[in-house]
Amino acid sequence: MADKYLTIPKYVKVKDEATGIEIVLPGACSQKDFESARKYTAKDSDVYVCSYPKTGTTWLLTIVWLIVHHGEEFPKSYRDSIPTLEFDGCESIEAIDDSEFPRIIKTHLPYKLVPKNSNAKYLYITRNPKDALVSYYFHVRGFNSVYHWKNPDLSKLYELYMKGEVTSGLFFDHLKEWYAHRNDPNVLFLLYEDVKQDPRNEVLKIANFLGGEYEKKMMMDGGKILENILERSSFSHMKGKNVWHTTFRPENEPFIRKGVVGDWKNHLSAEQADGLDRALMEHGKESGISKLWDKYAEFL
Ligand code: PPS
Repeated sequence: MADKYLTIPKYVKVKDEATGIEIVLPGACSQKDFESARKYTAKDSDVYVCSYPKTGTTWLLTIVWLIVHHGEEFPKSYRDSIPTLEFDGCESIEAIDDSEFPRIIKTHLPYKLVPKNSNAKYLYITRNPKDALVSYYFHVRGFNSVYHWKNPDLSKLYELYMKGEVTSGLFFDHLKEWYAHRNDPNVLFLLYEDVKQDPRNEVLKIANFLGGEYEKKMMMDGGKILENILERSSFSHMKGKNVWHTTFRPENEPFIRKGVVGDWKNHLSAEQADGLDRALMEHGKESGISKLWDKYAEFL
């Protein structure tokens, strides 16, 4: 078993007995954590930040946290402030103090496995798959203590990515399922590229979705809270903080890494880029997801 993880990142396959759905989670997770996550009952006030890995989850969570806490940053580390459903399980989410409501919950689970409540709010963020794959490559490289991958290799990771043999399965399936719910009244569907292009507009949109009272408060005093939120969720501010993970990561492999649109051009071969473009077109035929990045064609 150990030898296998010299050539691919270590992961676990978990199965949901109720639906028969199997998914891949990072090697540090377990069937037990996953089953515990599945026991959690969504509360009316819950706010879920949902995504496929490396698509802007931490950024969106930071924005949501800042909005809900009127511009105040995490009192503890990010990991201690915001539980991840499938890693931390039901008890740690139930244990969030009442004073910290609404619960802000992170999850990379597919749509069907996320706890549902028609009054809860679900934000989904996505990012073009070429940048998401490159970001995932650096993620796996940086968290080698979790992934145990002896010689991280982007070509190998590309193969696994195209087969969905990576955390949370196939990028395109994950996106398609959520995209189908983009117009649900309690779902807000966001693009990483839009937040990058116009953070002010996206922060206002998110605040409005979370509740008019947040937006109103943000705009008081000449928009002081809004300015705080924009500054504290900026790439440079987030990069300067050391709160994002508890698992070891070498200093030269930062978690808040580059934060740009189009970094794939520095890392993917023409064939790999083409393969991901074709897969997006193929999966987009009926679902419509292939049109999502049309307006960013010059970068992508
Ligand atoms: S994870 O581990 O799945 O939760 O990762 P996730 O947070 O989804 O994605 C990490 C990428 O988001 C970038 N990031 C940002 N970009 C722009 N602005 C801000 N403020 C920001 N914060 C995080 C982070 O750098 C990762 O992207 P890459 O391309 O690797 O830099």
